Amino acid sequence: MDRDVKTDLYCPTPHFHPRNLLLSSLAAVLGVLFRNSKSQRFKTLLIHSVGTGNSEHVGLMLECLADMVLGRQRVRTSTHERGPGMDFYDYESRLCRPSKVKIPDFQDGERLNHVVFAEQFTPALLERLGRSADRIRLLSKSKEGGRFLNDLLRHKRSMLYFTQPSTRTFLSFMAACQILGMSCAEVRDPRTSSEAKGESQIDSIRMFSSYFDVVIMRSNVAKFAECCAYMMNDLHETSRRNIPIINGGAGSDEHPTQALLDIYTIQRAMSYTHPRDSVHGTWFGELRHEFPDLLKGIDGKKFAFCGDICRGRTIRSLAILLSQYENITMYFIGPSHATLALPREFRSRLLAHGVNVIERNSFLDIGEHRPIIEEIDCLYMTRIQREHNTPEDEQAFGEMDFTNYKLTPELVDRMKTHASILHPFPRDEQFGEIPTSIDVDPRAYYFRQARNGMWIRSALLAYLFDVDSVIADYHQDYTSQPLDFDASALGG
Ligand code: NCD
Repeated sequence: MDRDVKTDLYCPTPHFHPRNLLLSSLAAVLGVLFRNSKSQRFKTLLIHSVGTGNSEHVGLMLECLADMVLGRQRVRTSTHERGPGMDFYDYESRLCRPSKVKIPDFQDGERLNHVVFAEQFTPALLERLGRSADRIRLLSKSKEGGRFLNDLLRHKRSMLYFTQPSTRTFLSFMAACQILGMSCAEVRDPRTSSEAKGESQIDSIRMFSSYFDVVIMRSNVAKFAECCAYMMNDLHETSRRNIPIINGGAGSDEHPTQALLDIYTIQRAMSYTHPRDSVHGTWFGELRHEFPDLLKGIDGKKFAFCGDICRGRTIRSLAILLSQYENITMYFIGPSHATLALPREFRSRLLAHGVNVIERNSFLDIGEHRPIIEEIDCLYMTRIQREHNTPEDEQAFGEMDFTNYKLTPELVDRMKTHASILHPFPRDEQFGEIPTSIDVDPRAYYFRQARNGMWIRSALLAYLFDVDSVIADYHQDYTSQPLDFDASALGG
């Protein structure tokens, strides 16, 4: 790209025309600025402005030029947000593009290369990953199937870089790697790495790419995984080393792989099958007596999200995935406090996708016709993310009544027979958004949901390393042979 821009700048068109004269003078000025500027940020923005013609890039580039001319120092965002020694300037012009425009940057041809945000996943890809997860789940039940899976990526190594607390995402990714035979290394506490000596996180990631074949990362810095993906793409230009970056949760921004396991759980829950289904009768058949309009699948369903709507990155990523299906209703049930409520811009984004968005303060408020709790097909509970509270939040929340945002057995009794209750976990024992007495209800999917994380993350890795079709072929041969395992165990 660097080279292309220089060519454009130094070879003005030979045909004389006042416009051409103006353009070639501008190109000459930009060329001089490019050669003489010491600011890498300015150079990058200039390249992007010329390369894309995007007004945001041009705006940033001019802002940066004004900073240089006036000798202005930019105020950098706090280390809490960006991490120590982190400089996003090189990526700023790419970060500020609309997500649709960014998607090709994270693909290698048709296949995803990096997993950065939920919008990269189409319903067709989600279906494909869900089917692959089902195959992996089934093959893992037998020694022979397990051995086959275990051999697939034996030559690959993964790095789990989790500098923000995690139990399920970390462990299920580790288990997913192990299922496919990958070996894993981890950094969880940056104080034990060279970051303690002042190394930047971006340098750390670059180092990991020298030793490993994939970096799975969680960071408290929003957009950090995205920057790492751009860095990998840039490295590919020079060293052809571009390993996948997988975002395991980025600040308050996105958590795309949690959304994958959520949607996989929802796909399965909304297939309305039961291990005891037979040609003589199925659970779906029974449900149709009670709910004659019920259809299998996600289209046309009603979802409720409850709790910390604003700060919950899992809600954001799942809502984005669901918004790609047809005729979806989403109820958002939470306090109308600015720290917790649905952000306006996110609401607009969902509306633009044709989602029926309804904000309410209680499950007992009337939805379209009946109380919301009786209307919904799936309830997604979340905890209040107290660790992000400011002193002002603490004070305001201390005076608020959160009773409406806690599920009770009485509320569950009013839910549809086939509705599912999900929670990304951890649940907050002290707050009690889901009391443990609900765990035995067949509609409580949250433990199965967490286990599904292992299967769908295996499917994701298999897809990224292009072995998912090998699994599909093996599965086909395997299931055409007489079973040597208990098929009913598939529910596990
Ligand atoms: C979530 C997270 O980290 O965003 N947990 C998870 O990954 N399973 C939800 C949360 O912390 O509340």
